[in-house]
Amino acid sequence: MDIQNLLVIGTGTMGAGIIEVAAVHGIAVTAVEVQETQRRNAQERITRSIHKGIERGKIKDASAESILDRILWSGDLDAAAPAADFVIEAISERTELKLDLFRRLDELCRPETILSSNTSSVSLTLIAGATQRPGQVVGMHFFNPVPVMAPVEIVRGLQTSDDTMATTKTLAERMGKRAFGVNDSPGFAVNRILMPLLNEAFFTLQEGVADAETIDALMKLGCNHPMGPLELADFIGLDICLSILQVLFRETGDPKFRPCTLLVRMVNAGRLGRKSGHGFYSY
Ligand SMILES: NC(=O)c1ccc[n+]([C@@H]2O[C@H](COP(=O)([O-])OP(=O)(O)OC[C@H]3O[C@@H](n4cnc5c(N)ncnc54)[C@H](O)[C@@H]3O)[C@@H](O)[C@H]2O)c1
Repeated sequence: MDIQNLLVIGTGTMGAGIIEVAAVHGIAVTAVEVQETQRRNAQERITRSIHKGIERGKIKDASAESILDRILWSGDLDAAAPAADFVIEAISERTELKLDLFRRLDELCRPETILSSNTSSVSLTLIAGATQRPGQVVGMHFFNPVPVMAPVEIVRGLQTSDDTMATTKTLAERMGKRAFGVNDSPGFAVNRILMPLLNEAFFTLQEGVADAETIDALMKLGCNHPMGPLELADFIGLDICLSILQVLFRETGDPKFRPCTLLVRMVNAGRLGRKSGHGFYSY
């Protein structure tokens, strides 16, 4: 299937990055967001990033105007969905919200349209079950920041068809990414490994073993990680980390995934990391 019209829903941290890479790689995108301020922030971020990319020679052979013209901004899903060949959902990591949205998309989109989710942890098999087209539901798990990070986990739900996997891999590659097929399982391949590591860093801080700067410096210098775990958690968003750990804990029942209470308290206090200005560090 040739993808002409991409629909991206949610223009936060991830949605904005996905819209940007699609437009830069010549794909027409419609961006749907429920919050006006988030939509404006995404528009500003993408415009800045594209101008910077052109100045630095990372984006070649295209003007900023021609790239930005490929993006249509909308607040109206009902109007946007019927034209979409392929949907990437990038809304908040809450299972009920995603299931409601996929039910709606299933009604609004054409029967051949593929519905994908950028979820970090919600089961693709569960999401597919909210639709009448489980063969055309797939995970497309990008990494943050999307314009910089190369891989995408293409997640195969129990009923995802081979055609859907192949079309999704081709789309990821058209967006300049490296596509890796993985099977649906809590946290897929990366987050089931990464989240327990971050969670252990939260416990290490909570138990007073060392302060945040020391934990991060030791992990960077001692394990050759480019970012320390607390710095990385702030970058991902502490609410996102908590949601992923809750899904891993609930779906596996394994206590190794129980979210650290320090993380829960920080999210309750609205300290969500970089995006709120405060997390383990201040920004
Ligand atoms: N942050 C990361 O590092 C990261 C990495 C990979 C995947 N993800 C996943 O990507 C998804 C988005 O994460 P994020 O960090 O961009 O979150 P975010 O909070 O920055 O953005 C989510 C956006 O979705 C919007 N939204 C919520 N409900 C909506 C709806 N029904 N219709 C349209 N817009 C809606 C919100 O207003 C918000 O702008 C989540 O599923 C998350 O798990 C996040």
